[in-house]
Amino acid sequence: MIFFKMPKLTIGKRTAALPIIQGGMGVGISLSGLAAAVAGQGGIGVIAANGIGMIEPDYFADGRAANIRAMRSELRKARAKTSGLIGVNIMVAANDFQQLLDACIEERADALFMGAGLPIKNIPVARIRAAGVMVIPIVSSGRAADLIFKYWEKAYQDIPDAVVVEGPLAGGHLGFRADRLQDADQQLEVLVPQVVAALARYEEAFHKKIPVIAAGGIYTGEDILRFLQLGAQGVQMATRFVATDECDADRRFKEAYVSCRPGDIAIIKSPVGLPGRAIRNHFLDNAAAGVRNVKRCAWRCLEQCDIQHADYCISIALDNARRGLLDQGFAFCGANAHRVESIVPVAELLDGLKHEYEAAFIQSLVTLKDEYVRTIEGKFAGLQQDYLQARQRFVLLRSEAGKAWNLRRDSLREDYERAQALFENLKGEYEAAMKKLNSLKERFPENLAELQEIARRFQADPLPQPAR
Ligand SMILES: Cc1cc2nc3c(=O)[nH]c(=O)nc-3n(C[C@H](O)[C@H](O)[C@H](O)COP(=O)(O)O)c2cc1C
Repeated sequence: MIFFKMPKLTIGKRTAALPIIQGGMGVGISLSGLAAAVAGQGGIGVIAANGIGMIEPDYFADGRAANIRAMRSELRKARAKTSGLIGVNIMVAANDFQQLLDACIEERADALFMGAGLPIKNIPVARIRAAGVMVIPIVSSGRAADLIFKYWEKAYQDIPDAVVVEGPLAGGHLGFRADRLQDADQQLEVLVPQVVAALARYEEAFHKKIPVIAAGGIYTGEDILRFLQLGAQGVQMATRFVATDECDADRRFKEAYVSCRPGDIAIIKSPVGLPGRAIRNHFLDNAAAGVRNVKRCAWRCLEQCDIQHADYCISIALDNARRGLLDQGFAFCGANAHRVESIVPVAELLDGLKHEYEAAFIQSLVTLKDEYVRTIEGKFAGLQQDYLQARQRFVLLRSEAGKAWNLRRDSLREDYERAQALFENLKGEYEAAMKKLNSLKERFPENLAELQEIARRFQADPLPQPAR
């Protein structure tokens, strides 16, 4: 059931007042500042653990230790600022995935978002459950979701708590081949129902709701409503949260979003071997032209990274961008970054999204009503008339055919059979139209009373009922 106001998002035993998760953004773009601001307003704030140790002074001396220390400290800082829900985003491909995971469990993060790989092997499920931490894998297909759940079911007799499905318009590293980003069957509108369908079996087997969270290119409140209507329970948004006062990146990083145009947003081949979406600049143009810019590698932080052949160290490039040094790095961004017009407080961004959602909801209700009225007055009325006429003719012919049967009037029998076929056909169409009408009726929300404005309109102009 979709509501007039944005619905809450319940995952396992936790409920967020808003169905909005702020996507984790490494390196250092979403730390305690942004995560706490989003959680404080009722969403779920997410700290990105990827390369987080780069905010510490000793990262190049001991990257692993710096990552764990920074992650713990950011989580505690966020906790000190808000009692809202705070998650951590960890890349499965990170070489310290297991240590970060352990530290997050000890710190009792509310949720762990795990992407860039399948979180299946060596997951300490018993400890995760004991600490009350939610596990939320990030996938790009129904197949990947099924693979993870199947593995968990077999290995742990348990399943994750929710799934983020990230489509091809997202920012950062993408889970698609670069030449398939435009394919119709890879779009988020197709992937969301696909993942919902893939999880149905597990919801039933474990008697547990598994919310699906849509991510990638979601920009307005209207987009949020559209994905909830497609079966998602919430959305994950990142690009919009970059251009907020509370985002942890340098102001120059945020301004790069405000000033970029559609032609500046490009798909790059990251040294990690995955495609990524970013704002084009000299640094990336040089890399594409084959200019090598590798000074040092702290500790091979990513499993797939081949620094011998890489054009640059992605962690250093992203960390430079975070600090506003965009000539020595680059900004990852979503496909809609060019729509960003200004840098605003998180509360203002969320208020805008709520208003857009409510307006879109009212519009969708009006459209639904129009569709209902059109169906009754238009196609349905005509069909009903045809059906009634055919029934009359059929009844008449049946009695005549009965009489004539004895006289073996073949032509009348053929006529009768044709009328019967027409009648059966119309009956089918009529019944299908009735079914559609009933389903349209069911889609009207039960909480119409809440909608004062709409309710008055409905009372003044009651829905016509189909004649039987
Ligand atoms: C600057 C930036 C950095 C990101 N870094 C990460 C990351 O470290 N890990 C991750 O799983 N996703 C990352 N993402 C993806 C987001 O979490 C999110 O799912 C996606 O960008 C949603 O699409 P949107 O930006 O169009 O809202 C990043 C996105 C951006 C824009």
